[in-house]
Amino acid sequence: MKVLIASDHAGFELKEQLKQRFQADFDFEDLGTFSNESVDYPDFAHKLAEKISDKSYQYGVLICGTGNGMAMSANKHADIRAGLCWSKEIAALVRQHNNANILVMPARFIPAETAYDIFETFFHTDFEGGRHQRRIDKINISHGE
Ligand code: RB5
Repeated sequence: MKVLIASDHAGFELKEQLKQRFQADFDFEDLGTFSNESVDYPDFAHKLAEKISDKSYQYGVLICGTGNGMAMSANKHADIRAGLCWSKEIAALVRQHNNANILVMPARFIPAETAYDIFETFFHTDFEGGRHQRRIDKINISHGE
């Protein structure tokens, strides 16, 4: 499966670990960052979210220190549902109920083993549809007339 992945400096190490761990089953396109040097998370979140919003890719993974900056930035884009996950239970629910298309993880608050569990769960769990689709349809807001 093709997956976009990106991080800021706080998520760089975990990004590299995830790529290595899942390289056999996933075709990663890495949008950076490519070192521990300090960068601004919105630059990476927007780059990745744009490619999912325009349907070039179906799924992405974003990692920063808390995950919040990446999630906030990615969720500004149309049709993006970026879900912050810190356990595999949340990862299952964000797919089943929210049909998340971007997995966001907080590198500074979860060990790599937990991140691996979250990643596997996210990509092996299907959306349940039904009442959850109705709720997803209510997420977007329109401004003006
Ligand atoms: C970087 O220090 C940190 O602010 C960033 O990785 C992230 O946690 C922001 O939400």
